[in-house]
Amino acid sequence: MEKFVIKGGTPLHGEVLISGAKNAAVAIVAAAILADGPCLLENVPEIRDINICIKILYEMGASIKIIDKNTIRIDARGITDPVVPYELARACRASSYFLGTLLGRFNKADVPMPGGCDLGDRPIDQHLKAFSTLGARHNIDGGVVSLRADKLIGSQIYFDIVTVGGTINAIFAAVKADGLTVIENAAKEPQIVDVANFLNSMGADIMGAGTDVIKIRGVKHLHGADYAVIPDPIEAGTYMVAAAATKGDVMIKNVIPKHLESITDKLRKAGAFVEEFDESIHVRCDGPLMKSSIKTLPHPGFPTDMQPQFSTMLTIAEGTSVVTDNIFDNRFRYVNELRRFGADITVEGTTAVIQGVPELSGATVKATDLRAGAALVIAGLMANGTTVVEDIYHIERGYENIDEKLRALGADISRVTDYDNQRMAV
Ligand code: EPU
Repeated sequence: MEKFVIKGGTPLHGEVLISGAKNAAVAIVAAAILADGPCLLENVPEIRDINICIKILYEMGASIKIIDKNTIRIDARGITDPVVPYELARACRASSYFLGTLLGRFNKADVPMPGGCDLGDRPIDQHLKAFSTLGARHNIDGGVVSLRADKLIGSQIYFDIVTVGGTINAIFAAVKADGLTVIENAAKEPQIVDVANFLNSMGADIMGAGTDVIKIRGVKHLHGADYAVIPDPIEAGTYMVAAAATKGDVMIKNVIPKHLESITDKLRKAGAFVEEFDESIHVRCDGPLMKSSIKTLPHPGFPTDMQPQFSTMLTIAEGTSVVTDNIFDNRFRYVNELRRFGADITVEGTTAVIQGVPELSGATVKATDLRAGAALVIAGLMANGTTVVEDIYHIERGYENIDEKLRALGADISRVTDYDNQRMAV
């Protein structure tokens, strides 16, 4: 087991390059199944969730060529049996995208229920509703979701709630269906637009991605394509917050500032200086941080995936901050760990009340999920003394080389394995 050991208290300074977006890339890798030829994907982040998706494709019979650490060639024509291996599906949430892509290509799919971060109840009822509207039957037996359709037929899908995964899966199932599909109350996150752009570059006919009504006219074939994934807005947001929280000065490069507007706005209101350029964003903070009120919402609202990092920064803001997470019902599991640093937080239901304290002091803590893990790393950077963050495999699901990137910004962070610990003890 690996951990991060952080000696905190140093402001971050310098430049950091943002990797490709995890939540776009996992869907785009799965979408390669729909192509009748090879796809060359660039700017794919080198993270655990991507490795799992690639392994799923490989185990099903796809040919995979790793051109370099961020460029992958996928030829999924060798897949003949649309069955996703059980343990791999359970290892991440993105495995649910194989439901849509396998159904879209084979009119059938057997995919174990997805895993992913434990953020509370994460049903897939809306995904199943979309598949059934397009003509697929489903059955869940032994933890495996089986979809079967004689033919997929374009139709009108209305989502009861805004769902990112449901919207992407509905697009996957509709893209080769007969006729027109209209998705209403669709999610508008940047990864929806990126997935639609990728599919359109393969010959799909998708309009309206990025708005709440998406229209898809089914096509007979999709060809292979070369495509570069968008930069990761959540990774960028994490470094923006880390810069402000440590009272640092960081240029965050390879970003789309438009995707970061809600984070930029909240950081400015909390007292940070944020300047936008075409493809980079500069964050600096030299004064005190101020209390804030945050409510997470679907895009373009403040993203739930930035809530733990922002809340962590607010532990040292002057005054009382109130943070409500409206997307997941259990996204405050990291708060117990944050209290070990001396943070003053109470949680009631989906709302956290944070009473700012003058400083945090280092602690030994466990990452409970991906973004919680990133938040604890930020707490370690902010805190006086030494912090140990355990269970960092959660963080590696979604952040490429986080320790290297932070070291380049002047952080004192090292990766320690139990083997090193044993060796030190001898
Ligand atoms: N929901 C349902 N039924 C469904 C689908 C969703 O009730 O059929 C509910 C969920 O329980 C949740 C809300 O709808 O309360 C929103 O869930 P959504 O479907 O939008 O989330 P997701 O597709 O499971 C993706 C990201 C998450 C991110 C959310 C929200 C991926 C692989 N995951 O999850 O990312 O938090 O959208 O933006 O894209 C992360 O990166 O750390 C992460 C958790």
